[in-house]
Amino acid sequence: MKKTIKACLIGYPVGHSKSPLIHTTIGKIKGDDVSYDLVETPPESLGETIERLFDEGYDGFNVTVPHKCEIFKYLNEVSDKARVIGAVNTCLRDEHGYSGYNTDAGGFERSFVEIGIELAGHDCVVYGAGGVARAVIYTLIKLGAGNIYVINRTTEKTLELKKDIDGFFETDKIKVSTEEEIMALGTPFYCFQCTSVGLGEGNTDCIIKNPHFLDNCFFGYDTVPVPEETGFMKMCKSTNTPTIGGVDMLIYQAVIAYEFYASHSVSYEDISKMRKETGL
Ligand code: ATR
Repeated sequence: MKKTIKACLIGYPVGHSKSPLIHTTIGKIKGDDVSYDLVETPPESLGETIERLFDEGYDGFNVTVPHKCEIFKYLNEVSDKARVIGAVNTCLRDEHGYSGYNTDAGGFERSFVEIGIELAGHDCVVYGAGGVARAVIYTLIKLGAGNIYVINRTTEKTLELKKDIDGFFETDKIKVSTEEEIMALGTPFYCFQCTSVGLGEGNTDCIIKNPHFLDNCFFGYDTVPVPEETGFMKMCKSTNTPTIGGVDMLIYQAVIAYEFYASHSVSYEDISKMRKETGL
């Protein structure tokens, strides 16, 4: 059945976002009537923006930096997954306002499972402890990873993340770590780059300090959602480590959000058509 969807992205800034292109193209393919706006929302006007979106009849909206945590206090309900991850990126209209969900974790899961890597019992290294890192780590534990060594500039954030996610799964897998410690351990691992280092057109910065760090790495996944090769991916390639960027995760989190808005599923074929049409 054809759906009419009025949605948007709120964030600060939002100008660079591919979300309108992804959502409206899927809409066209599914035969739905989709409008998707970019609503630049400075932190101080988050509450009033949400009220305005409700008054103007928005069915839902996506949330990006810097509002993924701050938004909690303006929502009627938050899903368990979003609460554990500590970040909401998709909101759906209900009777009195909006409820919050996290589709980054599902988006990462679909993209990772598609690669066909067997994760069970294998150790992982995650750079970062922000919203994206939390969604990735949540999923890695869900998929049965071994130890998860987290390298982050701010140790307190890693400890907070460990409390929330290990606490939820009743595990003790998340370890505060450094490149030096992991190299000394000599354990083989999969590596996930979940910081914002490398974000921005033409940015070739790389979070890895020592290229030899990748000597024991089977696979490097950069969550930064840019079509070009990032500094992290370049370093993986230079050490013959297979690698993938964050565009698939971006697409799948949007697809899951679309499925929420439209209440019907988007097939693999629909996604392929959308990718062909948008060049993503
Ligand atoms: P997102 O929702 O995209 O994850 P975020 O929650 O702001 O955004 O998290 C960004 C992550 O990138 C954090 O882990 C941050 O490190 P801190 O926790 O120390 O802030 C990391 N990050 C950003 N810029 C960085 C830099 N220049 N060097 C190292 N880490 C950086």
